[in-house]
Formats: sequence, structure tokens, C-alpha cells
Amino acid sequence: MSDTQKTFRALLHAQRVWDVPLPRFDASAAPADPLDLFRTWFAEAVAAGQTEPHTMTLATVDAEGRPDARTLMLHDADERGWHFGTHTTSEKGRQLAARPHAALTFYWPAQGRQVRVRGTVTPVGRAESRADLRARSTGALAAALTGTQSEVLPSRDELVRASEEAWERARAEPDTEVETWSRYVVEPHEAEFFQGDAERRHVRLRYRREAVGPWTRELLWP
Ligand SMILES: Cc1cc2nc3c(=O)[nH]c(=O)nc-3n(C[C@H](O)[C@H](O)[C@H](O)COP(=O)(O)O)c2cc1C
Repeated sequence: MSDTQKTFRALLHAQRVWDVPLPRFDASAAPADPLDLFRTWFAEAVAAGQTEPHTMTLATVDAEGRPDARTLMLHDADERGWHFGTHTTSEKGRQLAARPHAALTFYWPAQGRQVRVRGTVTPVGRAESRADLRARSTGALAAALTGTQSEVLPSRDELVRASEEAWERARAEPDTEVETWSRYVVEPHEAEFFQGDAERRHVRLRYRREAVGPWTRELLWP
């Protein structure tokens, strides 16, 4: 084994998980709707000092059914579902147009918590997508105006040039349109809340429903 590999393994195996004081989660007292529990857990993640608790993994599948995943920002969570924003022309945008199903994962290690959401994905429409971008920072607008997300970039210089132009435009025209930008909503049919436990007696509470109607709640073996 090479020294580099040995160093890597030593570092890897020295890492710990569920090694901080963890909250108890009484699943029998969980609310009837997963959105309520998500909002509570999100507020608790912020209060616990979790860095970037509003970031999540979005998993999609491509036309051949092969999975793909990336980190995104959560833009909202309401009775319609979990919202994010991206370009319709990006890799994920194309994947979602062909197969409108996705899974989201949040991991909040400060409390040993994970939330998983699965559902159907719908673009929310032009008006809300425009408002989505307007409500965000100049940097977010500049980023959305820069180039064509997920296309091959010929050189770093090209990005710098396009980004400088985009920043200028974003500052001068804060209401400018980005035709490819869309807000999407994941309408959940399943959501799972995982509370880690030092003894590995993790609590997993799953909510599921077939269509609109009451949620079924059940515990899962960890
Ligand atoms: C912390 C973080 C937040 C991100 N938020 C977004 C986002 O809200 N929207 C977005 O399109 N890409 C976001 N990205 C970039 C994506 O991870 C990804 O690189 C990009 O969307 C292209 O993905 P695709 O090729 O699968 O379409 C974020 C990346 C990181 C690391």
C-alpha cells in the first residue's frame, strides 16, 4: 500500500459520527404532517449552529434511469412541497423534464439528523420563477446570468469574462429576466426523519401517502 493511501486511510478511519451530544426524538409525539416536523427540525438545526442547513442533495435520474445527484439550496417548503431553483437547460433540468421524480436529502450532523423527501417535481411557472430570482442576491442573479450551466466550459478566462459582464448587468438591471431560470417544487409522497443515536438505536420515522390525504406514519428499522 502506498504512503498516500496509508495516510488517507488513517485519516478516514479516525473520523467519528454520532460522537456529539444528540437530542432525543420521540416519534410518537411527531405531528401528522411532515412539513410541520421539517420546519421544527430546520429551526432546531439553525439553533444548534448547523452550518448551511438550507443546503440539500437533489437526486434525479437520466434518460437511461441512471442516478445523478448534486447539492442545491432550499428556497422554500410549504403545503405544495420543497422548492429549489435552477436552469431548465442544466443537466438536472433536462433530466427532470424527461423524468419528473426526485429525492432530496438534508444532513444536519450537529444533531445527527437526516431528512429524506421523495416526490414528483413540477416547475412552478414563469411568474413565480421570476419572483424567485428577484428575491435573491445580486450574486445569485449574476450567477444565473452567467453562461449555460452544465455545458462544457472551454476555458477559465471565458467564465471570468462572462461573469464580469453578468455582475455588471445584474447591478444595472436587477429586474432582468433569465428565461432558463425556474423554480421547481418537489411534491412529496414520502418523507423520512432520521435521528442518530450513539448506541446505533437510531430513530427512523417515515411518512407516506398514495395521493392527497392523511399521512401514514411508521417506524423503520435502522
Ligand atoms: C452549497 C451549494 C449550493 C448550490 N445551490 C445551487 C442552486 O440553488 N441551484 C443550482 O442550480 N445549483 C446550485 N449549486 C450547484 C449544483 O450543485 C450543480 O453544480 C449545478 O446545479 C449543476 O448541476 P447539474 O449539472 O446536475 O444540472 C450549488 C452548489 C453548492 C455546493
